Amino acid sequence: MLELNGAVGIVTGASRGVGPVIAEHLAEAGVRLALVARSEDGLRKTAERVRRPGREPLVVPADISDEAGQRLVVNTVCRELGPPELLVNNAGREHLSRFQDASVEDIKKVILVNLFGAEALTRLVLPHLLSAGRGHIVTIGSVAGRTAYPYGTINCSTKHGVVGFTWSLREELRGTGIGVSAVYPTLIADVGISARWRAGRRPALLGQVQPADVARAVLTCIAKNKVEMTVSPVAEKIADVLGAVSPRLASWIARNGGVHSYLRDVADLQRRSR
Ligand SMILES: NC(=O)c1ccc[n+]([C@@H]2O[C@H](COP(=O)([O-])OP(=O)(O)OC[C@H]3O[C@@H](n4cnc5c(N)ncnc54)[C@H](OP(=O)(O)O)[C@@H]3O)[C@@H](O)[C@H]2O)c1
Repeated sequence: MLELNGAVGIVTGASRGVGPVIAEHLAEAGVRLALVARSEDGLRKTAERVRRPGREPLVVPADISDEAGQRLVVNTVCRELGPPELLVNNAGREHLSRFQDASVEDIKKVILVNLFGAEALTRLVLPHLLSAGRGHIVTIGSVAGRTAYPYGTINCSTKHGVVGFTWSLREELRGTGIGVSAVYPTLIADVGISARWRAGRRPALLGQVQPADVARAVLTCIAKNKVEMTVSPVAEKIADVLGAVSPRLASWIARNGGVHSYLRDVADLQRRSR
């Protein structure tokens, strides 16, 4: 288990949404934080929030979908804080639309942040973890990585990718002292992507969790070296198990519970406002 107190940790997507909450929980555990996102203003606000006596967070404005941005992050962290021991791949993007309405650029943008950004940054951080013989990589996936959400096809495919990335890398690094985990939240309340969705009433089948639940799951994955944790209400966890046993039944429940029509409404509203 990685000792968090004093460890150097990178959190991507730290300018808004759930990232600042994850950073806050890590700061509380004593992590020396590097905060990464494109918006410097957002990062500075998070830095104010997570500053602790003797622990000034490092702000690294960078685009993690870009190779130069990824190198900038790791080089800056090594120079200013020392070698990283923890990486939380939290930065994410979504594109909700009917799949045929998405442009090639829309597809690229989501894949480049959610999958390429997370994997390429991990690749750059990994040599430091290997030479220390300890460390942890946590990637924020989604329940959309375990089931099918129509109108969020691009996001869904990248989040399924996070599952494969995490399980494969974890097997490869077995015995090295490096942990690899993923956290799969359902819709998050108050902050982040789905809190900005505008449509009619959210169907009861779509649960919500608090941002702090996601942050606590990140810390639990590290403390217990868990491969994955789903962060969702119990009813949704039961639906997941049902879905694994009978995808046809799960689809029927989601369609009849209004989930698909709700997502179509969200996607259509987003298309009109683009
Ligand atoms: N909110 C939900 O309901 C929900 C549910 C399941 C999973 N998740 C996952 O949770 C994670 C955080 O989502 P969120 O809801 O907090 O999203 P959000 O509010 O949209 O925040 C996304 C974060 O990622 C950063 N980011 C986006 N593109 C980037 C890029 N190219 N380079 C560097 N940083 C970039 C953004 O900062 P800049 O724009 O400043 O770069 C921002 O800090 C994502 O992986 C998401 O898929 C969210």
